[in-house]
Amino acid sequence: MLRKKRLRMNNRVSSSVEYHWATAHVRNRIRPHSLDFGHYPKPFKTYGALKRIPLIKGEISPGRDLMGLFRGEEPAESEQSLGFPALSRVLYRSYGVTREEKARGIRFFSRTVPSAGGLYPCQIYLMSRHMEGLETGVYYCHMIQESLDLIHRDGFSLGRDQTFDLSFVVTGIFFNSAWKYRERAFRYLLLDSGHLVENLNLALRAEGLSPRVDDDFEDDRISALLALDQDKEVPLAWVHVNGKASGPEEKCQPAPDFSGPCLKAIEDESVAVSYPLLRRIHELGKARVGTRAHDAESAGVLAFEPEDRRVSLDFEALNPPLDYERAVLSRRSKRNFFPARLDRKKAVLLLESASSLYKGQPEDSARAFPFLALGVLFQNVEGFDDGFYIVSGEGGSLRFIREGPFHEPLARVCLDQQWISRAAVNFLFMANLTGLENALGPRGYRLLLMDAGRMAQRIYLAATGLSLGCCGVGALYDEEARTLLDLNPDSALFYAVSAGPVKGSGF
Ligand SMILES: Cc1cc2nc3c(=O)[nH]c(=O)nc-3n(C[C@H](O)[C@H](O)[C@H](O)COP(=O)(O)O)c2cc1C
Repeated sequence: MLRKKRLRMNNRVSSSVEYHWATAHVRNRIRPHSLDFGHYPKPFKTYGALKRIPLIKGEISPGRDLMGLFRGEEPAESEQSLGFPALSRVLYRSYGVTREEKARGIRFFSRTVPSAGGLYPCQIYLMSRHMEGLETGVYYCHMIQESLDLIHRDGFSLGRDQTFDLSFVVTGIFFNSAWKYRERAFRYLLLDSGHLVENLNLALRAEGLSPRVDDDFEDDRISALLALDQDKEVPLAWVHVNGKASGPEEKCQPAPDFSGPCLKAIEDESVAVSYPLLRRIHELGKARVGTRAHDAESAGVLAFEPEDRRVSLDFEALNPPLDYERAVLSRRSKRNFFPARLDRKKAVLLLESASSLYKGQPEDSARAFPFLALGVLFQNVEGFDDGFYIVSGEGGSLRFIREGPFHEPLARVCLDQQWISRAAVNFLFMANLTGLENALGPRGYRLLLMDAGRMAQRIYLAATGLSLGCCGVGALYDEEARTLLDLNPDSALFYAVSAGPVKGSGF
């Protein structure tokens, strides 16, 4: 039965929970909608930049172990600053183009991250100072043209970020995702940006840096600095890299001058479609994270108490290790799953890759974690009964929830995408949305979906390294998913990732 709150498909939603259910897919009720390829959204912006600096395309340099990166192992040589060639590497690995195709007169790009509908609505801006070979200022990272476009000389005197020499802002353009997903697009903007933030985080770590993902900044300040039109594009995440240990004379240097906002992008008026509901949900999440006390029950997702049966996970080092750079540059979504038995070790590595995000995060970057319930459906996986499990605590064990089979019904729930039924593993990103909002306020929803995107990016990379297929799934009938998994009325499945053996990869 439809719940009342689900019917409020307008801009009057007053919470993220209402937004979520207002944008639920309901079988036979998805409004017909033809895609207007005459106005296909461009995955980049255009600036009359002050200066354009081409990125340096380096050779592939294998060597970093993917699982070591996930585990937070320090590289042999730890840097605290970055030169321009390394910055170029970071940007290519984070969001670079790996393939280009042309159809209907439109250029389509594959990138190092997946994106719902392949629309790539996220953008990256860079604020840099004291970097050798790069003038201090704010840059738009034009990842299609492969350049840094200077849009402000000097200027990122934003108070508390004074100690950062390098900062990246990830934004999302509403229309680029709404072109296909309409009001549901905010979910995809958040998941997409999570994938991108994690790629950026790993790329910086691979250079020996220690980035910090900040999701609790003042949106308006960042929007004003970057001269964003908030009806169209909004900041979603901010990634800082601590300044190199500066000498006393550097510490005394005056902060760069900050006079006025960045250049404005050259607008493409043909894309001025407005989605009040997207504006509204972003507006609600602008309030900084509130942290009210919560108990474990408010984070619970199940409508029943499963028996207490646990399977401990034996994370071990892999030999030979998985190569990070090859994984990130060859990542694609693969859906041609076939029913071969999945080796236990590979299944455990996939689980470790996802749950490794729980570990070693500073507390203020992990506020949504208690609410992110990571489920997994196994089918034909060595050493595990088929069925539904939930990863417990920090990821060291699985709680068995129910026996399978779940794959066929999940495929039906995911808008009848049949290939999902053939994947060995289906990861389930679930949360008690009411408990989350009560504890963190509406911005908690942003944190939650971005964390899920970050974990999912780790799964994609590990699957690629293990020669397995992997594909994100955002299209689902929300209420049917809740019923299938027997979730309580406050909880939802909001993303899934399928992984497993695919045809043509040696199984
Ligand atoms: C948030 C998100 C949701 C997605 N949902 C689906 C989906 O429901 N079905 C599907 O076939 N692919 C889905 N994808 C995969 C995209 O279609 C894919 O990433 C995109 O077409 C680009 O192709 P590539 O990943 O091979 O580079 C999703 C990806 C993301 C990041």
